[in-house]
Amino acid sequence: MSEVERGAISALLKEDRKYAPPQEFIKQANWDDPQIYKRALEDPEGFWAEMAAAIDWYKKWDKVLEWNLPFAKWFVGAELNVCHNCVDRHLQTWRKNKAAIIWEGEPGDQRVLTYMDLFREVNRCAVALKRLGVQKGDRVALYLGMVPELAIAMLACARIGAPHTVVFGGFSPESLRGRILDSQAKVLITADGAWRRGSIVPLKENSDQALSGTPSIEHVLVVNRTTAREKVPMKDGRDLWWDCEMEKSGAAVLEPERLDSEHPLYILYTSGTTGKPKGLLHTTGGYLVGIHATAHYIFDLKDRDTYWSTADIGWVTGHSYVVYGPLSNGATSLMYEGSPDYPDKDRFWAIIEKYRVNILYTAPTAIRTFMRWGLDYPQRRDLSSLRLMGTVGEPINPEAWVWYRENIGGNRIPVVDTWWQTETGMVLITPLPGLTVLKPGSATFPFPSIEADIVDDNGNSVPWGRGGYLVIKRPWPAMARTIWGDPERWRQQYWSRYPGMYFTGDGAKRDEEGYFWLLGRVDDVVNVAGHRIGTMEVESALVSHPAVAESAVIGINHDIKGQAIAAFVTLRSDYSAGEELMEELRGHVSKKIGAIARPERIFFTAELPKTRSAKIMRRLLRDIAEGRVLGDTTTLADPAVLHSIKQQYEDSEG
Ligand code: WTA
Repeated sequence: MSEVERGAISALLKEDRKYAPPQEFIKQANWDDPQIYKRALEDPEGFWAEMAAAIDWYKKWDKVLEWNLPFAKWFVGAELNVCHNCVDRHLQTWRKNKAAIIWEGEPGDQRVLTYMDLFREVNRCAVALKRLGVQKGDRVALYLGMVPELAIAMLACARIGAPHTVVFGGFSPESLRGRILDSQAKVLITADGAWRRGSIVPLKENSDQALSGTPSIEHVLVVNRTTAREKVPMKDGRDLWWDCEMEKSGAAVLEPERLDSEHPLYILYTSGTTGKPKGLLHTTGGYLVGIHATAHYIFDLKDRDTYWSTADIGWVTGHSYVVYGPLSNGATSLMYEGSPDYPDKDRFWAIIEKYRVNILYTAPTAIRTFMRWGLDYPQRRDLSSLRLMGTVGEPINPEAWVWYRENIGGNRIPVVDTWWQTETGMVLITPLPGLTVLKPGSATFPFPSIEADIVDDNGNSVPWGRGGYLVIKRPWPAMARTIWGDPERWRQQYWSRYPGMYFTGDGAKRDEEGYFWLLGRVDDVVNVAGHRIGTMEVESALVSHPAVAESAVIGINHDIKGQAIAAFVTLRSDYSAGEELMEELRGHVSKKIGAIARPERIFFTAELPKTRSAKIMRRLLRDIAEGRVLGDTTTLADPAVLHSIKQQYEDSEG
């Protein structure tokens, strides 16, 4: 019997609540035919060829898929341009003067770019890039805050066939340098700064530091956002102001390049199990078809919608579902520059009220934060424009899901929990909001045509009701094609553990009705006395206690059981830490999951260490718990949090 089978991963929360799609939603849903699942699984290539009809092609494909495991080619032989599909083609329709991007700056300034405006700006940027010597195939690095220039620059790169690599504005100079070195980018586009919680993130200063020792960079284009121009040091011959260069381009229009379907669209770096980030390469035809279809059917996009994904464009969600997916659908995509608590903790709700946002896509961590802040903030605002909400990025505990549905969604609209990865490019496991009966905390079912499975250590499917490793058994169009410059690592990392299957690195289980439940990264699974327990399960149990705002669970070494569970817990404002509560929480977890999941140790802390993309860094908590020197903390949103947790931990240890 494999470890997974033996394990108690199946000791899961019982979740019996179910929510069928409301009738009014079904009536207008982009997809209401359940036959789609069967049809798409029987003929996945036919299904994607059908989806591809929504895209403009200069030349049609000879073959839908060419699969030389682990290297895929989709829409082989076809030619298209992503920028044409996201911008130009809408000018032929009434959407010409429709808002493409509605942007709100943190200080409260706004900009609305119609598709026509976007066309003009993208062309000027493309012309400027060409003037600076950027050729088809050259890489361009983008290190910006959430400003429209970021989307404009991405589309301009796509227009000329120069793959971009967006580096999240919260990354350090060193991380930026590493990515520039790996991608050998020729031009960097940055800004003097970005607004975050009322202060300035010094992007230009960081860039200057990063650019020592990056010989590939010939020019830096600098967007003027936060600082008086004369105060920004510009390096002669290298640095140029974005707006001056745009002006120089005048009204020039540059025809989009006719690009091969497999031409690289972008490289996006993500951390793996090793220290060195991997540059996942996404290409043109398959990627666009995949994100166009998923955006259309999962977010049920309609022309009347104002759609808002709160993700930063520095992450894959921003690429696929702030920029390319919505714009290729001709949607209105809202972008917000800043922090959710600036100037007050109701900023998100204020934005929804102000623009009458219809579709909201955000992260579970954000939702749990809002829960902690309390109901007063959402209740101040009119959220009745919302008709659909989504989550992404981490497993969502049922309590947070229900809270979101009730308090933000007014108990009346679907909530889609979407599972995917930087590597997958598009959502793979998700409800279809007009079809799927939802269960809080479950991402429900694979998107039509996606063959997902859950396997044990030996790669055998586990029966429903059991936990294991999530794998994908067939290629899908928006999948990454390789790791930039390291195809061997692509094979090694994702395709070698189970022959013929894509290994996601996530644990999952299917319940008795076939619903998928994501259990977090398998490196976040704790093995207690031979029983595997998803840290997420324990967290979810803890968070379902009224005292708990958020929790992070890790495995700690244990003499007898091998590993034991330690929980770091932050409390809601009206509760205080103490022995009694600790015992109560232990009992609560035992009750929810079973005695094997009972936390050995509970630590109350004021905050949890999170990355800037809001993922809890359990690895660092393990370091603290096991008395190790703290590992790399540079990706933390606030490294100080960690030291205060360490202090509190050590104090509690006596
Ligand atoms: C996790 C983000 C549970 C998962 C799009 C995955 C999720 C990793 C979900 C990828 C979800 C993402 N439920 N877990 N709905 N969505 N994850 O590359 O562990 O930043 O492997 O892509 O996030 O993170 P990435």
